[in-house]
Amino acid sequence: MRIKGVAVIGAGVMGSGIAQVSASADYLVTIQDVGEEALKRSKSIIESSLNKLVARGKMSREQADSALARIEFTTGLEKAVHNKDLVIEAVFENLAIKHELFKKLEPLVGPDVIVASNTSALPITEVFSATGMAERSLGLHFMNPVPVMRGVEMIRGQLTSEATFETARQYVLSLGKEPIEAVDYAGFIVSRLLDVLMNEAVKMIQEGNRPEEIDKAMELCAGHPMGPCRLLDLVGAEIAMHGMETMERDLGPGYKPHPMLRKRVLAGLLGKKSGRGFYTY
Ligand SMILES: NC(=O)c1ccc[n+]([C@@H]2O[C@H](COP(=O)([O-])OP(=O)(O)OC[C@H]3O[C@@H](n4cnc5c(N)ncnc54)[C@H](O)[C@@H]3O)[C@@H](O)[C@H]2O)c1
Repeated sequence: MRIKGVAVIGAGVMGSGIAQVSASADYLVTIQDVGEEALKRSKSIIESSLNKLVARGKMSREQADSALARIEFTTGLEKAVHNKDLVIEAVFENLAIKHELFKKLEPLVGPDVIVASNTSALPITEVFSATGMAERSLGLHFMNPVPVMRGVEMIRGQLTSEATFETARQYVLSLGKEPIEAVDYAGFIVSRLLDVLMNEAVKMIQEGNRPEEIDKAMELCAGHPMGPCRLLDLVGAEIAMHGMETMERDLGPGYKPHPMLRKRVLAGLLGKKSGRGFYTY
C-alpha cells in the first residue's frame, strides 16, 4: 500500500512540522486541532519555516508555496481524516487525551487506514491498547524541529503488522528521512537517553551550575550540537518531565524526575513554547 494523504491531529510544534514535511513531499495533508487559535499559530509556524528554507536555498519559492497550498487546516476531525490513508496523532503528551481522541477517531477511519502516534515516551502498545486498531498502528517519533532533523524513530506495538510497518517505513523514506527502529519500552531510544541527560542538567543547576556553562560544556567539550538546557527549552519541560515519569513507572526509580523539573513545569517555564525556560524567547 502507498500513502497518498496524511491527516495530522494536533497542530502544535510537532504536528505543524509533520504537516510541513509531508506536504513538501507531495502528500495532501490536513492538520486538525481543537481551536482556531492553534491552527492560526500552526499556519504561521509552517510559513516561517518554509520561508527560512527558501532563504537558505533549500527549496524554491514555488515549492514552498505549493507545499503550503497542499495543507488544509481544520477543527473538524471527520473532515481531517476524510480520504486519508495515514493519520498521525501529535496531541498533548497525555495518555487519557490520546485515548479519548482514538475513541472518536476509530469510527471515522476505514479498516486500511494506518494510525501513528508521535508520542515521545509512552509505550505504543499502551497508546493503542484501548482501540481496535492495534495491528494497523505504530509509533512514528519525529524529532524537533521536524523539517531539520533527519531521523524518525519507528516503534512496533505488540500487535503492529509487518505490512503497516513497511508502509510507514516507505512514507518516512519518502520524506527524505532515515527510519530508526526502536523497541517498545518507555522512552524508546532517543527520549530515554536525552530525558535522563536533561533531568541531570536540572539537578546540576540546583547544585549551583549555571545553564549557560552546562550548555557550553556539552557543546564545546562533548561535541553536542546543543547543550541540555537549551535542548530542554526546545523540547518543552513538560514533555521531558512526562517522559521521566513514564520511564520511572516502567523502568524504576532511577528515572524519577527531579523536583525542580516538576516545579518549573508548574510555573510554566516550559521553554520556547511558553516564551521562558532557562533562556528567554
Ligand atoms: N516537543 C518536542 O520536542 C517533541 C518531540 C517529539 C515528540 N513530541 C510529542 O509530540 C506530541 C505533541 O507535542 P508538541 O510539543 O507538538 O505539543 P504542543 O503542546 O506544541 O501541541 C499539542 C497540540 O495538540 C492540540 N490538542 C490537544 N488535544 C487535542 C485533541 N483532542 N484533538 C486535536 N488537537 C488536540 C493542542 O491544542 C496543541 O495545539 C506529544 O505526544 C509529544 O510528546 C514532542
